Amino acid sequence: MAVIIRRATRNQIPEIVKFVMASRAKTFPGQGQTTLPDLAHFQETYIEHRDGCFLTAHGEDDQIVAAIGYLAYEPRFAQLDLGHDRVVEVVRLYVDPSWRRAGLASRLFAELMRHAHEAGIGRLYLHTHPHLPGAIQFWERQGFVILDVQETTRWGSVVHMSRLSDPSSSFLEPHIVPNTGMPKPNNLFGASHQQIQGF
Ligand SMILES: CC(C)(COP(=O)(O)OP(=O)(O)OC[C@H]1O[C@@H](n2cnc3c(N)ncnc32)[C@H](O)[C@@H]1OP(=O)(O)O)[C@@H](O)C(=O)NCCC(=O)NCCS
Repeated sequence: MAVIIRRATRNQIPEIVKFVMASRAKTFPGQGQTTLPDLAHFQETYIEHRDGCFLTAHGEDDQIVAAIGYLAYEPRFAQLDLGHDRVVEVVRLYVDPSWRRAGLASRLFAELMRHAHEAGIGRLYLHTHPHLPGAIQFWERQGFVILDVQETTRWGSVVHMSRLSDPSSSFLEPHIVPNTGMPKPNNLFGASHQQIQGF
């Protein structure tokens, strides 16, 4: 079935917020249903900000079947040094369950990367969680490497990942503990709810 990918416009905001909040509730059951700050300020964050972008994928009936965005990264993890060269945070990637494993998230991310590259973004950051099926594998396939793994009381393990925007740049070196092959855990119990918002 044909899918159309579009950059978000102002009149789509209510539909996008509804899709993201419903998808998030299924992905993170038990988390609050308060509208998240970026969604509450969608226009300023994703449409008007030069370091913001939000894309949706639409099926034949024009319903949203997947979403992804990036916003200006707010430095808040002391253990990460991402530099200052226009870093954005990739957020809100959700694919409707009936559309998964068909390459849709890969298509959406490729389109997001095209926008990031055109906009002159230097680096992309995201965090994810090992309990989300396929999430770490997915991001590794998109060229992200693990920078750090953080244990938190509320969110469990949080995996911090990053990649450069320029496709011709070599990827970052992963932050690996010698002899274990495992990413280095850091900052046990350190993250607050404000730092980790989940996808
Ligand atoms: C993770 C998610 C976005 C993947 O979307 P998708 O459209 O199914 O992804 P794609 O079809 O583009 O997958 C590309 C590759 O990622 C990996 N991958 C994706 N889902 C996977 C899974 N469930 N298990 C293992 N690997 C997976 C595979 O390598 C896959 O390639 P393959 O199908 O050729 O094996 C989707 O499952 C989802 O919305 N999950 C719930 C929300 C979520 O976890 N968001 C990400 C938070 S960081």
